[in-house]
Amino acid sequence: MYVCNCNGIREREVRAAIAAGATRPAQIFKACESRPQCARCVCDMNRMLRDEAEALRYAAE
Ligand code: FES
Repeated sequence: MYVCNCNGIREREVRAAIAAGATRPAQIFKACESRPQCARCVCDMNRMLRDEAEALRYAAE
């Protein structure tokens, strides 16, 4: 599934960028060697960042 249609960034690429240390959408774009265009995907990226951070918090408990 695509998260960013403008750049063809898939969900698994976003998750890989987060796993590699991205904490903001700008870092996800950079990891995917792309730039925001319409920025409609930024809300989805932020949601994925929150979900991953929450999952890590639960895993640490
Ligand atoms: S959907 Fe990601 S920049 Fe447009």
